[in-house]
Formats: sequence, C-alpha cells, structure tokens
Amino acid sequence: MRILRTVLLALPLALWGLAAHAGGDAAAGKAAFETSCGECHYEDDFSGESEADILAMIQSVKTGQVEHKGEAGGLSDADAANIAAFWASFK
Ligand code: HEC
Repeated sequence: MRILRTVLLALPLALWGLAAHAGGDAAAGKAAFETSCGECHYEDDFSGESEADILAMIQSVKTGQVEHKGEAGGLSDADAANIAAFWASFK
C-alpha cells in the first residue's frame, strides 16, 4: 500500500513539474517585456488569463489582427511565448 500511495502522490507532482516548464520562459519574458512592452503595460495587465490565451492575444497584436498602439510586430515567436509565460505568472 505504501508504494501505491507514493506513486499516487508523485504522479501529480511530476505532471505539475512538466506543466510548469511547458511553454515560454518567464525569466526571459520579463527581460523582453521590460525592453519592449513595459513602457505601456503593467506586469499584471493580463492576470487571471492562461498562458495560452495571452499568447493568442500577443499573436493577434503581432500580426496586426488587433489594432495596437505599441510596436509588437517585430517580436519573435520565442519572445512572444516568453512574454506570455511572464504575464501568465501573475495570478
Ligand atoms: C506605446 C504603448 C504600448 C506598447 C509599447 C505596447 N503596448 Fe500592448 N497595448 C497598448 C494599449 C494602449 C493596449 C490596449 C488596446 C489598444 O488600444 O491598443 C494594448 C493592448 C495589448 C494587448 C491586448 C490585445 C487584445 O486582444 O485585447 C496585448 C496582447 C498587448 N498589448 C501586447 C503587447 C506586447 C507583447 C508588447 C511588447 C512587445 C506591447 N503590447 C507593447 C499599448 C502598448
């Protein structure tokens, strides 16, 4: 029984670890945010949104689908993913 309990406890932790590392790099995103977006945006502008939703919004700004005051067109896909991870880290 003890082994079963250990496995049951370890599995969600392992999955959580995977999920936490999926997607962009929040530390790199912080740097890109400060360089390109911090002039107008707050760190917690998108608090409560999922990383995937934020990334979709950044993509629509990047491609010009959504009108945007800022300059986001030059962002690389990696920057966009990293900024999404950074913004998503504010709950
Ligand atoms: C010059 C100011 C300015 C800068 C710089 C700026 N933004 Fe924005 N952004 C805005 C404003 C203002 C809005 C609100 C909507 C609008 O009027 O464009 C906005 C809205 C957004 C939205 C929400 C779009 C939606 O679907 O509602 C996203 C995503 C976004 N910005 C991403 C970025 C990213 C990523 C950067 C950095 C690369 C950035 N912005 C830099 C001013 C700026």
